[in-house]
Order: sequence, then C-alpha cells, then structure tokens
Amino acid sequence: MKCVAFAFFVIPLLARAFHTWLQEVPYRVENGFLAFGGFHPSFYHSLTATQIAITFSEDKLDCGWACTSEPKCVSFNIAVNQDSNGLFLCELLETNMFQDTGKLQNNVSFHHYSPPFPCANHNCYHESACVPDLEANSHRCKTCQAGFVGNKCERKGKSCSEIKSFSPEVSSGSYVIDPDGEGGCEPIVVFCNMTEKNGTGVTVISHDSENRTLAKGNSSQGSYARAVHYSGVSSSCISQLANLTAISSHCEQFIKYECYGTVLLYNGYPYGWWVSRDHEKMKYWGGAGPGDLYKCACGVAQECANSRDGCNCDKYDHDVWREDSGFLTEKSHLPVIELRFGDFIYNHDEGFHTLGKLKCYGTI
Ligand SMILES: *[C@@H]1O[C@H](CO)[C@@H](O)[C@H](O)[C@H]1NC(C)=O
Ligand SMILES: *[C@@H]1O[C@H](CO)[C@@H](O)[C@H](O)[C@H]1NC(C)=O
Ligand SMILES: *[C@@H]1O[C@H](CO)[C@@H](O)[C@H](O)[C@H]1NC(C)=O
Ligand SMILES: *[C@@H]1O[C@H](CO)[C@@H](O)[C@H](O)[C@H]1NC(C)=O
Ligand SMILES: *[C@@H]1O[C@H](CO)[C@@H](O)[C@H](O)[C@H]1NC(C)=O
Ligand SMILES: *[C@@H]1O[C@H](CO)[C@@H](O)[C@H](O)[C@H]1NC(C)=O
Repeated sequence: MKCVAFAFFVIPLLARAFHTWLQEVPYRVENGFLAFGGFHPSFYHSLTATQIAITFSEDKLDCGWACTSEPKCVSFNIAVNQDSNGLFLCELLETNMFQDTGKLQNNVSFHHYSPPFPCANHNCYHESACVPDLEANSHRCKTCQAGFVGNKCERKGKSCSEIKSFSPEVSSGSYVIDPDGEGGCEPIVVFCNMTEKNGTGVTVISHDSENRTLAKGNSSQGSYARAVHYSGVSSSCISQLANLTAISSHCEQFIKYECYGTVLLYNGYPYGWWVSRDHEKMKYWGGAGPGDLYKCACGVAQECANSRDGCNCDKYDHDVWREDSGFLTEKSHLPVIELRFGDFIYNHDEGFHTLGKLKCYGTI
C-alpha cells in the first residue's frame, strides 16, 4: 500500500517538476504506477471513446497531465488549434486506441494521444511471447519455453518440477537446471522424466556406479570402497545436488547389497555402509530411515533372515546368497557419494552392489 501511495502522491509531484523538462507526460500502468516514456501521438486523429471530462489546457503536456491526474483517464484528444482564450480543448478518455481499435479516426482538428502498446517494450525473456493486458495497461509473459521459469521466463529452472510447473506441456528429455540459482556452481545437464510420479516432473541424476558391481576386499571393515561420481557434477559442486534436495519435496535413491558370507551393518559393528554427501558414514540401509539404527528394510519390518538381526546379510551364513535393498529417502543425507564393504575373509566371500539414480521431485 505504501508503495502505491508513494506512486500516487510523491512521484506525481516529482514528475510534475520534471515533465516539462522531459517534454513527456508519464502515463499510468498497472496498480496506478507511473511510467515514463510518454503518451504517443496520432496526429490529426481522434478517438471516439467515452469521455470522462473536457478541460482546457495550455499545451499537450498540460492536457496529458490532466489525464494522468484523473484515475480513470487512459488517453486524450487535444484540439489542433487554440480557442479564443488561447487554450486547447482537451478531452479525457476512458479507453485507449488499443482497447478501441476501430474508433481511431482521421480528424483535421484533433490529435490523439495514447500510452505505448503494453508489449512495445516488453521484458519476456527466452522467446516467451508477450500477452498485452490492455485493461491494466500492462502485460504478462506467455508459457515459458521449455527449461525457463519465472514471471518473465528470465532464468533457468532449478529442478524439473519447477520447469514442469511453468511449462505444463513440456516433454521428457535433457534439460539444463541450476539448483543453486544464478552464480555459484555451473548449471547441470539432467534428465527430466515429465510423466513419472503423476507428472510432477522428476529430476533424474545419473552416476558411474549404477551397474551391479562385484565388491571384493579383505577382512577389515569397509576395505572395499567405491566412490560415486554424478554425471555433469564436479566433486566440488556436489552442493548443487544438496540444493536440489533442499528445493524438492521428495528425493530417493535405490540401494542394494547382495551378499555371500559377508555382513553389512552387523547390529552396531558395520562392515559395510554408504557415505552421505557430507562424508558421513551412515548407519541405516535402504528401506530404513535415520532413526532405524543399524537396520535394513527387513529390520524395520521385523522379518530379517535371522529375527535378531537388523539386515538379512547380517545372518552371516556361508552357503546362501542374501540381499538387502530399498530406497534411501532422507533428503539431508542424499546423494550417496561412496559405498564401502568388508568382511571378505574366505575366498568365496563376496558381494554385489547396485545403486540407483538420484531422483527428486515436487517443489517446496
Ligand atoms: C473530431 O474530433 C472531435 C473530438 O473528439 C469530435 O468532436 C469531432 O466530431 C471529430 N470530427 C470528425 C469530423 O470526426
Ligand atoms: C519415466 O519414468 C517411467 C516410470 O519409471 C518410465 O516407465 C518411463 O520410461 C520414463 N520415461 C522416460 C522417457 O524415460
Ligand atoms: C499420484 O496420484 C495418486 C492418486 O491421486 C496418489 O495416490 C499417489 O500418491 C500419487 N503419487 C505421487 C508420487 O505423488
Ligand atoms: C554398465 O553396463 C553396461 C552394459 O553392460 C555398459 O555398457 C556400461 O559401460 C557400464 N557402465 C559403467 C559405468 O561401467
Ligand atoms: C585391507 O584393505 C584396506 C584398504 O583397502 C587396507 O588399508 C588394509 O591395510 C588392508 N588390511 C589387510 C589386513 O590387508
Ligand atoms: C545451496 O547450498 C549451499 C550449500 O549447502 C547453501 O549455502 C546455499 O544457501 C544453498 N542455496 C540455495 C539457493 O538453496
């Protein structure tokens, strides 16, 4: 409200002082704000629109000022010649030449002045079309081109969900997103699945450890290590992915360990674990949450191979393949940056790890 009041009272006073010098009268735009650039003349024309008032003015600036000062006035006609008192007849009008397109007529004794077309100096970026709002003498930007967001389509999307919300028609494919906004880390190329999860727009980040991979090390805890590198994200910019999780309402990453004679979280004495984005050794597995200490999905559901264990692999039997798998969903820990396994004592002891892509969706 303060701003509008400022626009109505203070700016007009300043404008009044300067308008003669500018040789232009400001016109009113949305919410009563004033814009400089002036009314544009159509010489020897008049607009046959509804008149609000008729005044007599000293010149076109005076007439224009009378229009700007009258809240309902958006354009005016002014006589070409002075009357016997040396004044010009000035008609204040309720509509302008863009609203009443057919009503601008040749007229030897009048000039018409309307504000510039609302899209004349528009700021709709990245090929978004400008849609004039003649009523408010302003404009809005039409649906953004795929990948761009904002009221003016001025910036790259921060996530696929944000892109989807600004351009509902977009299809799945590669997009450049910038989760930390302008500056900071370089934008990243991601895959957007625009149909998955009810079409909310899912950001999919690939990495170099998605294949089912053999883990083999020595007997000590975490002796096998596999670092995970996310495509298009440098290790110094893992913060881009942290920002992605922060602005998304949901994130998930599938994780699986298949074991043969090797244990995992081992009820508080872990031989295998995953490492969070903050380089923390994590004490829960897929299908469990941060509060489920040393548990896998089966431990949460209380249906592990050995009911006393937190994970199937922790049963530690040497003649059968077991597996623990599920989704990690704690946003503040994702993504996984390293996998560690151990307990490879005998020759046949081994494991296979599988890590899914990072997927985030929804906006906060
Ligand atoms: C010229 O414009 C004036 C002011 O709007 C109007 O009164 C007059 O009828 C117009 N003349 C013609 C010939 O259209
Ligand atoms: C999007 O995700 C769905 C569900 O996971 C999958 O079936 C579909 O193939 C994906 N679309 C593309 C283009 O990859
Ligand atoms: C998709 O929509 C269905 C039905 O509205 C809902 O039950 C389900 O939870 C939604 N899924 C997601 C991922 O939002
Ligand atoms: C994953 O496996 C596929 C198919 O065997 C192979 O083409 C690809 O290079 C592997 N990716 C990595 C990162 O090893
Ligand atoms: C086991 O491997 C780790 C790292 O891979 C190494 O630091 C450690 O010395 C090895 N221990 C034995 C007993 O070989
Ligand atoms: C992005 O992440 C960094 C590091 O976590 C944080 O300092 C920054 O505030 C985040 N920016 C946004 C826009 O969330």
